[in-house]
Amino acid sequence: MAPPPRAAEVSDRLRRLAAILTAHRDVVVGRVDDPAEVRWATARGWDGYLLGLGDDALARAERAPALALATDPHAPADLRALAREVEDATRVRRLDAVPASPIRGASESKRAQVAALREALRHAGTGAGRVIDVGAGRGHLTRALSHALELPAVGIERRPEVVEAARALGRAPLDRDLNVRFEAAEVDDRLAPRPDDLLVGLHACGALGDALIRAAAVSGARALLVPCCPQKIDSEARAPISALGRALDLAFAGPVLGLANRGGLGEGPVSQEDALGRRERRRALRRLLRDAGVSLAPGDEARGINRKRFRGPLTPLVEAAFDRRGLPMPSARQVAQAERDAAIEHARARRLSVARALLARPLELALALDRAALLAEAARPVEVVEAFARAVSPRNLAIVALA
Ligand SMILES: C[S@@+](CC[C@H](N)C(=O)[O-])C[C@H]1O[C@@H](n2cnc3c(N)ncnc32)[C@H](O)[C@@H]1O
Repeated sequence: MAPPPRAAEVSDRLRRLAAILTAHRDVVVGRVDDPAEVRWATARGWDGYLLGLGDDALARAERAPALALATDPHAPADLRALAREVEDATRVRRLDAVPASPIRGASESKRAQVAALREALRHAGTGAGRVIDVGAGRGHLTRALSHALELPAVGIERRPEVVEAARALGRAPLDRDLNVRFEAAEVDDRLAPRPDDLLVGLHACGALGDALIRAAAVSGARALLVPCCPQKIDSEARAPISALGRALDLAFAGPVLGLANRGGLGEGPVSQEDALGRRERRRALRRLLRDAGVSLAPGDEARGINRKRFRGPLTPLVEAAFDRRGLPMPSARQVAQAERDAAIEHARARRLSVARALLARPLELALALDRAALLAEAARPVEVVEAFARAVSPRNLAIVALA
């Protein structure tokens, strides 16, 4: 890895992103739930252009909003300028790609993620005494790091059944001699590492990432965090953890934080078609629930339903959602009508959402830099990098503090 950058690079970048987000706060908070009422688009005169996007231009803009909008001569000048600024402000160093090794029970994507983190840490020569992997899941990273760094490792995971799976995988011939153990526990701000610990989290969701960084800042432990799903928090909003983040007013409500998890539709293992199909079905389900008198906060329609169901046909999904609420199932005609209405609404919402999706990466990077800023404020050399290609997983930012 390159020499640690100056703290000023973290704060300058965070200020630049905060300027973008603050100037477009209405867009950031303005989810396109009802495409008939998107004030930020009409107020800026962007609606005509966005709603007129052809299918190919739309697909391009959904995959890479900043690049597509910055280079579209038909886009309004201020939208194009914003896209150029976003492109520039969100460019971060990417770690060199490394070949993945086989890992029993891990997807191709997970193998590539683990390989990238393992190499980043191996070359850094961390000198740590122990690895603590928070939100360890089935422990693929925990075992790989223990093996590569020749260190004892502890994987902490809150779901006991997943901890069992991690332990079972660790009994395989190649892994059973490793000094690795798994604990079923909730990680929160009580996490108290030793100064010579290396704290890692791969796709550590929501508040878990904040707990890791706070613990590293207080204890001096080394840290490498690849965050994801910032919206998975128990509180209504996430408050910034750094003094600079607070000064820049970077607090966001849970559903708004979901934007940071959305950038680059179709990047990573979920295809663009799959992701869009899910959104259209969610929209149809939402209409049916509303018609049945259910009042819904954003995202409520999906709560308690296995995500995989959103990949399949609409009727069984509606059955599951209505059954869960003890409501009578709507008729086949009502379901078919909701499907047709949702398709029309979805086409409009997709187009308007492109401008909001432009702000997804700035928000994601700002959240990462807020965490990096806390470490910088604790006088730790810290960098935010892309740990692997977005095709491996779009949640690829890493906060790295290894000294
Ligand atoms: C997206 S998964 C990633 C798992 C693993 N690190 C990997 O990359 O394969 C996040 C994991 O963190 C666990 N988790 C989330 N919040 C947690 C917390 N506060 N304490 C412990 N585990 C947590 C979840 O149960 C889940 O297994």
